[in-house]
Amino acid sequence: MQTTYNGISVPTDGEVIGYEDGKFIVPDCPIIPFIEGDGIGRDIWKASQRVFDAAVAKAYGGKRSVKWFEVLAGEKSYGLTQEWLPDDTVRATVDFRVSIKGPLTTPVGGGIRSLNVALRQLMDLYQCIRPVKYYDGVPSPVKHPELVDIVIFRENTEDIYAGIEFRQRTPEADKFISFVNNDMLKGSKKKIRLDSGVGVKPISITGSKRVVRAAIAFAVKTSRKTVTLVHKGNIQKFTEGAFREWGYEVATSEFRDHVVTERESWILGNCESDPDLTAEENAVLIEPGLEFASREFRDAVIAEVKHTIGSIGYSHGNGRWKDKILINDRIADSIFQQIIIRPSGYSVLATTNLNGDYISDAAAAQVGGLGIAPGGNIGDGYAVFEATHGTAPKYADKDVVNPGSVILSGVMLFDFLGWTEAARLIESSMGKTIQQKFVTYDFERQMQGATKATTSEFATRMIENM
Ligand SMILES: NC(=O)c1ccc[n+]([C@@H]2O[C@H](COP(=O)([O-])OP(=O)(O)OC[C@H]3O[C@@H](n4cnc5c(N)ncnc54)[C@H](O)[C@@H]3O)[C@@H](O)[C@H]2O)c1
Repeated sequence: MQTTYNGISVPTDGEVIGYEDGKFIVPDCPIIPFIEGDGIGRDIWKASQRVFDAAVAKAYGGKRSVKWFEVLAGEKSYGLTQEWLPDDTVRATVDFRVSIKGPLTTPVGGGIRSLNVALRQLMDLYQCIRPVKYYDGVPSPVKHPELVDIVIFRENTEDIYAGIEFRQRTPEADKFISFVNNDMLKGSKKKIRLDSGVGVKPISITGSKRVVRAAIAFAVKTSRKTVTLVHKGNIQKFTEGAFREWGYEVATSEFRDHVVTERESWILGNCESDPDLTAEENAVLIEPGLEFASREFRDAVIAEVKHTIGSIGYSHGNGRWKDKILINDRIADSIFQQIIIRPSGYSVLATTNLNGDYISDAAAAQVGGLGIAPGGNIGDGYAVFEATHGTAPKYADKDVVNPGSVILSGVMLFDFLGWTEAARLIESSMGKTIQQKFVTYDFERQMQGATKATTSEFATRMIENM
């Protein structure tokens, strides 16, 4: 381990967070690297750090404290080191395992290494976690935002984000298209147009299972009622459809005592409503129109009914399934409707990468938007928490924007460290401050009778409210 990174000394009064046997070892004074971020990141970080320190001091009376360690990236880094992302920054983030960052400018024109992509790849941060929950008083475009309490686990390493793309009419694209058209699709009517750009969408068992595993483990740990696998498997059977299939496999093979799938719940429920029901009758109830299906399909559904009753009738039957975590799945387009029309029916979502990208922002919009949407990128042994909005350059250095996204990312960080008392203190003081209608411009203009606070005033009021 180095004693300085980018020429900045590591705090000598803190300790490094450890990781052994799948568990983090958190000292009372952990060193946590932070990147303040560009643009509004500068205003927000200052305010957020004061809130974090006050909450930790209040919760632990001096027994615990975070030793913040600034690492450089983005414009500040370029100004000081002529590098947008120095190797030392990447190294510090890896060495200290848990870090937090504000938004960074991604210079247009390419050629600049993206910190998010670099860190994600290096530490294999395969889960992008976005909790979406309502704080009383926050302006919302929906009638019942208080019903939204959803945590999204988005796969973070593959899908179309794998970056395997070829620009149209390049030799690579031509070669790729020719191979697919003339070899893979030989004899088929399907063809890729010759003037296409092409991208590859890999979805692996490894990538899918580990993110679903993390989502279900979270649901078990936090007593959540459902985990929904979100996919577009009706169209993309071997990628999105496979994600669904592998998700159910993880649920039933690794979490059997804790979960019931939606179909299993129907089968067991049908038996309880009518103890004389035959497997054939039960199959028709769970699969309406089954009598018109092929013999092979009918047999498969009947076998599924028998298998369910035989394998979990004893452990999950007689209504015991109602106390288990329900594992269901929804097609990606329908989940956009569902979280608006029936948000209380959804608690944890496990998604492929692209679907998760869209659904995270759509869900956040219901509870106040990106200004207060936190996020975390988690791998085995590593975590980077971050604001989900950008650098909003036109508001930079004006001390006006909402620091909520970074502050709530800090709540995630403290929960992650097991410092739940500090996390709850921050959450409740944020709730209280918003209820007092003491809010930054973005909320003030949507609330009746609110007082417009600056970024720093909002933080100060939060500290007073702890
Ligand atoms: N994680 C990241 O580092 C990250 C994420 C997204 C965008 N970016 C970068 O940010 C820059 C600007 O991107 P953009 O304009 O598309 O998105 P943006 O999120 O920076 O801003 C869009 C608008 O959202 C509002 N807004 C955002 N954050 C707010 C806050 N905390 N409080 C109040 N209002 C807020 C503002 O009205 C702003 O004009 C680009 O360089 C982009 O690459 C970085």
